[in-house]
Amino acid sequence: MEKLTYEEAYELVKKEIHKALTKSPRIINEYLTHLSASQGKMIRAVSVLISAGDGEGKINPGAVQAAAAIEIIHLASLVHDDVIDNADLRRGQETLQKKYGKRTAVICGDYLLSLALKMVSAIPEGKKYLDMRLSDYISRLCLGELLQHINNKNLDLTVFDYIKIISGKTAALFEASFLAGALLGDYSPEEVKKYKKIGNYIGLIFQLQDDCLDFDKTVETARKPVQSDYEQGVITLPLIHALERLPEFRKKASNNAIVRDDINQAVEEAGGLGYTRQIIDRYYEKAERYINKLDTTWEKRMRIASIVRMAAGIKEEA
Ligand code: FPP
Ligand code: MG
Repeated sequence: MEKLTYEEAYELVKKEIHKALTKSPRIINEYLTHLSASQGKMIRAVSVLISAGDGEGKINPGAVQAAAAIEIIHLASLVHDDVIDNADLRRGQETLQKKYGKRTAVICGDYLLSLALKMVSAIPEGKKYLDMRLSDYISRLCLGELLQHINNKNLDLTVFDYIKIISGKTAALFEASFLAGALLGDYSPEEVKKYKKIGNYIGLIFQLQDDCLDFDKTVETARKPVQSDYEQGVITLPLIHALERLPEFRKKASNNAIVRDDINQAVEEAGGLGYTRQIIDRYYEKAERYINKLDTTWEKRMRIASIVRMAAGIKEEA
């Protein structure tokens, strides 16, 4: 099959996802159509497509299925995550769990996973599909989420444990996206390793940035609940830093005597967001180092660098 331009591939991914959601069996159609009405940033799909591109940016059509499947796995995890976090809003609209109830949302998340598996199994190059080890990455995703749950309200959570959590719950799927792209782009095993590293760093950056968002964005700009991680018992890096820096605040927190304002004040006083951004910068540099090591064109390196900026929340110029 002939290779696609980036724009063609991107449009096809959107179409593939839309079709999978809206042409679903009648019994589940209303719920999945609700999900199809709002779109995310598609950063995982973009990661697959860009990594799959050759020096001229031309893409193996198999990358379309891989990208759509990974976006659907991500969507499944969000549908479940909103049940766990009791969230009302996602991508600017009511969550499935709020609109139709938790039971429906859990089942729909499971169904989405089956849709994704069906999609990737349609990739013509079977060996590549096996090398993607998507099931291993889904396992890492689940284990990361479980580790977060086990540490719910754990004020002793260390930076190390936090990184372990986000490596699983977020970085794993980014790594999977870069791996899938590199395999479909026919890169050598040595190159594929670099793509995986870049994906992992981008995933860590994405989640660190997302955890800052909970403190410094409004519900309108985030299009999902903010100021809500701690309320759900989720301890993130800006807060870990404040807990480590401010013993009085920590004591108050362990006595369950803090309200949202105390948290925001403590994070501000301890410089929790600045600290988190320093860690983002560190991963940013690591990602850049690997991007520069890629055996590819300058244009492709620039395209990958723009994904790093997207993950770090740095707006691209028009
Ligand atoms: C969002 O995190 C959630 C994730 C990154 C992963 C959630 C994973 C699971 C529920 C387990 C896997 C499930 C399936 C079906 C594969 P967040 O709550 O920090 O971000 P948010 O602010 O966007 O909600
Ligand atoms: Mg959540």
